[in-house]
Amino acid sequence: MSEEKVEYYDQNWREYDEWYDRHPAIYQSELNVLKKTIPSGAGLEIGVGTGRFASPLSVEFGLDPSFNMLKLSEQRGVTVIRGVGENLPFKNESFNFTLIVLTIWLVDNPLRVLKEAARVLKKRGALILGLLDRESSWGKFYERKAAKSPFYKCPHFFSPKEILQIFRDISMEFKAAFQTLLQPPPDVKYEEEPMRGYGQGGFVVLKAIKK
Ligand SMILES: C[S@@+](CC[C@H](N)C(=O)[O-])C[C@H]1O[C@@H](n2cnc3c(N)ncnc32)[C@H](O)[C@@H]1O
Repeated sequence: MSEEKVEYYDQNWREYDEWYDRHPAIYQSELNVLKKTIPSGAGLEIGVGTGRFASPLSVEFGLDPSFNMLKLSEQRGVTVIRGVGENLPFKNESFNFTLIVLTIWLVDNPLRVLKEAARVLKKRGALILGLLDRESSWGKFYERKAAKSPFYKCPHFFSPKEILQIFRDISMEFKAAFQTLLQPPPDVKYEEEPMRGYGQGGFVVLKAIKK
């Protein structure tokens, strides 16, 4: 990961975290879909940030390159590890599930991160990916924002279909999709109930199982 990006999160960790307080209906709607997919057992969030999702979802371990983001995660009860998703410091078949939320679009090598997330899973373990659908109004809204930012030189937003192709390429079996944020950006007025599938909501969660 480029130094500039680490620095960005290291400097803006408080502002990043407080965004969730200012947008409670978005945060709750996203948590609601993630709750549908999280299994029991040992879990790792890659790009855990400040632990906004790992902590309420009881994900035990969180990895991130940003020291300041990790500090807050730790205060929220997550066991933290400093590192990058492209090179996970864990043995094969260590976890029951791996989680990646709103992070895959900014990593240097998304395919490598997904391969690593699969490598550290036990057999029949779950890889759970939460992303903004590039083809949705939310994806387009944030893609425009990121393109203007000096920190995200090459933002790569994905569509669910692209991720499903990657799942096939890395021998992960697609299991389920849930979506939320059917209200248009930049904010939602009320918390939404999770809906199955993708193609209508801005935030999509895709779950795949290691064969
Ligand atoms: C947009 S934040 C998302 C944080 C958290 N998952 C959430 O949804 O609140 C992206 C996080 O990914 C981390 N990150 C960036 N590049 C990474 C990489 N190569 N591997 C793992 N994490 C990375 C950043 O430091 C940041 O904390």
